[in-house]
Amino acid sequence: MLILGIETSCDETAAGVVADGNRILSNVVYSQMVHNKYGGVVPELASREHIRTIIPVLEQALHRAAVTLAKIEGIAVTYGPGLVGSLLIGLSLAKSLSYSLGIPLIGINHIEGHIFANFLEHPDLSPPYMCLVISGGHSNLVYVAGKGDYQLLGRTRDDAAGEAFDKVAKVLDLGYPGGPAIDETSKKGRPDFFKFPRAYLEENSFDFSFSGLKTAVAIYASRLSREKLDKHRADIAASFQEAVVDVLVDKGIRACLQRKTQAIALAGGVARNQRLRSKIQREAEKHKLRVFFPSPVLCTDNAAMIAAAGEFHLSSGRRSNLDLNAVPYAPLV
Ligand code: KG4
Ligand code: ZN
Repeated sequence: MLILGIETSCDETAAGVVADGNRILSNVVYSQMVHNKYGGVVPELASREHIRTIIPVLEQALHRAAVTLAKIEGIAVTYGPGLVGSLLIGLSLAKSLSYSLGIPLIGINHIEGHIFANFLEHPDLSPPYMCLVISGGHSNLVYVAGKGDYQLLGRTRDDAAGEAFDKVAKVLDLGYPGGPAIDETSKKGRPDFFKFPRAYLEENSFDFSFSGLKTAVAIYASRLSREKLDKHRADIAASFQEAVVDVLVDKGIRACLQRKTQAIALAGGVARNQRLRSKIQREAEKHKLRVFFPSPVLCTDNAAMIAAAGEFHLSSGRRSNLDLNAVPYAPLV
């Protein structure tokens, strides 16, 4: 089945065509740059950028896939969670296409989309397994019992992992988005330079909390002279990153052992983090667990993952109606 995916939940305008749920024919992502100078996403600007770019992005996606709309057999679109104004633009396009072409529509939960990025690339990944969905808006530890069958074991109680990266990068004058900047800068620093707090919360809790860590870094940096901050920027970045990575790896592996899964997968923008990838691989090896993560372009927001999730639901007979609405806080389960 040839599925067109559309994703506009935050600051990426994306469209992609996927065949049979596992062959990416195109995956066009326009990352909005208007937000950079504000150090974070400005919702109204995001909506306007989506309106301006969604049709060219769609045309590119069809062009690169070398298909016309007439060949598309189903439309998958993110309905939430995300920014309401941004979601509505993707939804409006998807509904118009579904109605005018007379093909089925399916609304996809954005978090489930991230989970499907691994199914898309790794045919040998089979449930049950543990998935850490870690992005700018979410930090979820999900037990994937099967495709479409999830149990939420833990989630963030305050800042998402990526949000902490973005905010700490701002404190350290590393620009926006902060994740890639901290990832790169940390390579020149010492992860053991300063031991920032790791919030493990209650014993056996799989929830996350990163706002205390973020505040600790901000206080630490504010007490340094300009000169000292410049000298130790990479050390502070690496020490912060280490604290985030330690908690994610610890909870992810512990959840695998508790639920006796053989594999752990990473998904979402933070899954691009190189320290996280190498550390989780090292720790997983000790427990004979397999580790999966998507290639970088499929970690951050994209429409191929939405199309892949759409193929699964459509071929299982599920459909959305044309009254499908945006749900800004849509839960995964
Ligand atoms: O999944 P995503 O594109 O959007 C949301 O659904 O939120 O994730 C974006 C987040 C941003 O917070 C960004 O800083 C973070 O992912 N990110 C990273 C890296 N690349 C992107 N965080 C850590 N290390 C990276 N290399
Ligand atoms: Zn995302």
